[in-house]
Amino acid sequence: MPKNDDSLVVALPNGRILNQVSALVRRAGILAEPAFEDPNARQLRFATSDSNIAVIRVRSFDVATFVAFGAADIGIAGRDVLMEFDYHEVYAPVNLGVGRCRLVVAETAELAPEDDPTKWSHVRVATKYPAIARRHFEARGVQAECIKLNGAIELAPSLGLCRRIVDLVDTGATLKANGLVEVEHIADITARLIVNRISLKTRPELIGNWIRIFRDLVEDGETLSAS
Ligand code: PRP
Repeated sequence: MPKNDDSLVVALPNGRILNQVSALVRRAGILAEPAFEDPNARQLRFATSDSNIAVIRVRSFDVATFVAFGAADIGIAGRDVLMEFDYHEVYAPVNLGVGRCRLVVAETAELAPEDDPTKWSHVRVATKYPAIARRHFEARGVQAECIKLNGAIELAPSLGLCRRIVDLVDTGATLKANGLVEVEHIADITARLIVNRISLKTRPELIGNWIRIFRDLVEDGETLSAS
């Protein structure tokens, strides 16, 4: 249940956008204890310079879950995660502009020249995003069989699990290294500030103030130097 005191739990995503996100959070004035920056630290919850604010570091998918259930009041999550879960309890008021990448359909480079995506009627894809993939293919009348993986998706075609994947692409290096090419764009992705809707209703001043702080940071263009 959402908290009803002055305490605030901020959920941040482990992984490749953590550095950019941490810089942004510091600029917002939330200064976590030194262990937060230590990759070897085993603790998962960190105190900050404000005794009312704690920071937790969890998997990117779990940021949305912690916020949706009110275990964390605010968080930073990729649009990919928000699209996959589509939690009604999560409100995403600020596009933070960091963690920019795209969600795509990719297939083996051998298949691509002779393949026409407009002719697909059934596809089997490996993905971390079965809900997004199903919705995407359904919208264009394609039946999708989605094999859920939790990482290293690009490995699946070369081992015969499937011929196509749905995954995030940033530089394109992972696709290339695994003999894959992008054939369809699904969505552009950036990180969003997310808040629990009930927290916002029950503590509008506190949560609303944090929304304003992050919105001002983005409007000031500070995210450009947040990497
Ligand atoms: C992500 C994504 C791709 C890769 C894309 O994986 O799932 O595999 O980054 O980046 P690139 O286009 O710059 O190569 P991540 O490194 O987060 O690890 P994962 O395989 O465990 O998901």
